[in-house]
Amino acid sequence: MRTQVAIVGAGPAGLLLGALLHKSGIDAVIVEQRSADYVLARIRAGVLEETTVGLLEQAGCVQRLHAEGLPHDGTELAFDGRLHRVDFKALTGKRVTVYGQTEVTRDLMDARLAAGLETVYEAQEVTVHGFDGPTPEVRYRKDGAAHVLRCDFIAGCDGYHGVTRASVPASAITTFEKVYPFGWLGILADVPPARDELVYANHERGFALCSQRSRTRSRYYVQCALDDKVERWTDDAFWDELRRRLPDEVAQAVATGPSIEKSIAPLRSFVAEPMRFGRLFLAGDAAHIVPPTGAKGLNLAASDVGYLAQALCEFYRDRSEAAIDAYSTRCLSRVWKAERFSWWFTSLTHRFPDTGDFGRKMQHAELDYLVGSEAASRVLAENYVGLPMGH
Ligand code: FAD
Ligand code: DHB
Repeated sequence: MRTQVAIVGAGPAGLLLGALLHKSGIDAVIVEQRSADYVLARIRAGVLEETTVGLLEQAGCVQRLHAEGLPHDGTELAFDGRLHRVDFKALTGKRVTVYGQTEVTRDLMDARLAAGLETVYEAQEVTVHGFDGPTPEVRYRKDGAAHVLRCDFIAGCDGYHGVTRASVPASAITTFEKVYPFGWLGILADVPPARDELVYANHERGFALCSQRSRTRSRYYVQCALDDKVERWTDDAFWDELRRRLPDEVAQAVATGPSIEKSIAPLRSFVAEPMRFGRLFLAGDAAHIVPPTGAKGLNLAASDVGYLAQALCEFYRDRSEAAIDAYSTRCLSRVWKAERFSWWFTSLTHRFPDTGDFGRKMQHAELDYLVGSEAASRVLAENYVGLPMGH
């Protein structure tokens, strides 16, 4: 089998890249190790930047997003038992859209199917070869048979635990990592959200986040111990802990019900440099991880593949390698800004083992400064709604 671009991984990065390439008349095959149902069952991000919505628009995948996505003009910060609103629209002229990663993935999968584009699901023993030369290959097994996919380029969109980054010689790659000493316990439930907008809460018992997927579906998180087990948390225990960490007026508005999903995610900051190795490009979680606090993971995956689609389009259309050569630098500039924001927002809102009384006072003083200063609020808002792709 032969294609122009072999994409490893059918998460949001791989699927969006496939859709953008298709719009530019470039052939791509996606090779994914899991089934489509498994990919769709993963409950992850929920907040889309305007840049991400723009890329989905370019990919022709926004009909349902525009009909069902919830535009949010601001968010609320909670500390000291009080609520403070940050007005994104007034401070930056931009808003974000609440629309689940699952829905983005479903829309991209449906569009791919409708266009008759090839995705190999449940591919086993996926390996990548020859990307330091002119004839790269992706090899895999499917239903007991060995397959070779020859291509011009490989896009490594296979997430943090994928095979593509692991296939780069150690001497060619530098990684930067910080593992946080806690995780997030998340719950999804068919109950109306407590507030119209998201609430990020700093509390002495630990961070809490009120998010949502629709007017009838809520997503809540509480900071938990790294070694905590999801089986230890009944739904009731979760709701009690969540409400303890929220100001009274929010806690009283939390509607409770049976969870549809409950899971624990560790928090990590991670960057691999560079993001291009000959004819292999890394994109999304394959190249970088942010702690979820800033809601940047999915948005960075989208902007990476936005740059990559543009670069490949210039290669095939104009025979220019300039954008391919610039890919890594352009992505990493954006990635490090998002890493800084996500790290800062995590540090400001979570309880660390060494936070102590002084640390808590400092967090509160900084939050107080933030909500009291228009300039400081604008910096938060600009980072949250995201930078334009040119930056
Ligand atoms: P992924 O979504 O990880 O997709 C990679 C795909 O590659 C997967 O389908 C995988 O099965 C496939 N794959 C892996 N290895 C191979 C292989 N060897 N061969 C073929 N295919 C392979 N972000 C937020 O903003 N907010 C959140 O609340 C949030 N929660 C998260 C919770 C968890 C548990 C995780 C892991 C991430 C979370 N994120 C969150 C981050 C966000 O979901 C990711 O940034 C986003 O999924 C990145 O998309 P991606 O396509 O790069 O990677
Ligand atoms: C969600 C996750 C986040 O990390 C965040 O900052 C906002 C929302 C969510 O899953 O809805």
